[in-house]
Amino acid sequence: MSGLIIKGGKHKLIGEISLPGDKSISHRSVMLGALAEGTTTVKNILFSKDVIRTIEAFRNMGVDIKESENLLRIEGVGLKGLKKPKEEIDCGNSGTTARLLAGILVGQNFSTTMIGDESLSNRPMDRIIIPLSKMGGLIKGREDKYLPLEIQGIEGKLKGIEYTLPVASAQVKSSILLASLYSESPTRIMEGKPTRDHTERMLTYFGCPVQNINGNIFIKPPAFLKAQDIYVPGDISSAAYFMVAASIVKGSNITIKNVGINPTRTGIIQVLKEMGADINIFNKRALNNEPFADIEIKYSPLKGIIISGDIIATLIDEIPIIAVAATLAEGRTIIRDAQELKYKESNRIAVMVRELNKMGAFVRELPDGMIIEGKATLKGGILNSYKDHRIAMALSIAALRAEGESIIKDHECVNISYPGFFNALYNLFS
Ligand code: S3P
Repeated sequence: MSGLIIKGGKHKLIGEISLPGDKSISHRSVMLGALAEGTTTVKNILFSKDVIRTIEAFRNMGVDIKESENLLRIEGVGLKGLKKPKEEIDCGNSGTTARLLAGILVGQNFSTTMIGDESLSNRPMDRIIIPLSKMGGLIKGREDKYLPLEIQGIEGKLKGIEYTLPVASAQVKSSILLASLYSESPTRIMEGKPTRDHTERMLTYFGCPVQNINGNIFIKPPAFLKAQDIYVPGDISSAAYFMVAASIVKGSNITIKNVGINPTRTGIIQVLKEMGADINIFNKRALNNEPFADIEIKYSPLKGIIISGDIIATLIDEIPIIAVAATLAEGRTIIRDAQELKYKESNRIAVMVRELNKMGAFVRELPDGMIIEGKATLKGGILNSYKDHRIAMALSIAALRAEGESIIKDHECVNISYPGFFNALYNLFS
């Protein structure tokens, strides 16, 4: 086991940072670039463990993908150009790789097996097996629910469906949209709660228009996708750790450059503002259908709030770090409707409740969230990340405001989504 020591109470955060590209958009760039006709270039792609799984999967299916510094060049093979991989596709820890790729693989003319690490092998896959099977896809999972998945491609025989998403999940929605590229007929997906719409935006950018009319998402199978140049904005989910850090450490003032502000992802900004954070968004721009901006955050005392309902899907990955902010806010914070957190890389409700209470916070677990009583005096300790990248980063920020020293166990799991996280944090110390 490895661990990283963080000394609390020593540093404020001052300065400017740029973040690596958004993880969700990075995965989708590789997938659509591979299936398009022509050369797609991707600037500021996130080279993290999860995205590398997606890149490797397509290389193993015969796609030429070259990387240099911060640019990826993908020689698209067209919708029908993928080749049977020699081995199983190993998705590692990456739910996005597994679920989105399954949608593509059901439409191929070869069979594949997808595997993953221990965490991913225990995450539900029936949520994609069910709709993809309704489309005619042939997928077998362990206990009909888990990886490994055996997928028998049935090129030319998939059919469109009308499907109401039973869980608010962009991965499930995207899996169906990608399978729809291979269907004989159009598909309609009914989405109760809006989830991140990067797939819809990028498909449209690649020449396959996807329409969303009041939560009804329509896609018609395209003749082909056309290669494009993509700029991946900084990941708002990574920005969240710095936004909270600057908000809770006295004297802090930071600017985060080029952060994606797609409205299906900005719940974190809305919540922090409601808690009293001092956040200024400026320099708004957009490229390839994705808006981004610079964000300035200064220290400001926070207060507890209620977070529930539709906003949850727009900040689902940020709840661990919001919980940290809430322990240091005045009054009570209630987080509800977030049961999906139990099915992430770890059970993020149980883990955050356990670790924050270990630090002296007052957090009660609910079946669909937590109740956090502020304001706590956090104490350093040996903190377990459970090898979950978002838990490791959230606890590191909590440790900054704790009395004494903390050890973050298995800290290197941050490489899943943000390899340079600790360096970026140290660079802001003053
Ligand atoms: C993602 C969707 C979300 C999110 C994950 C990335 C995506 O998962 O938690 O980190 O890229 O589509 P769900 O679809 O399971 O909510």
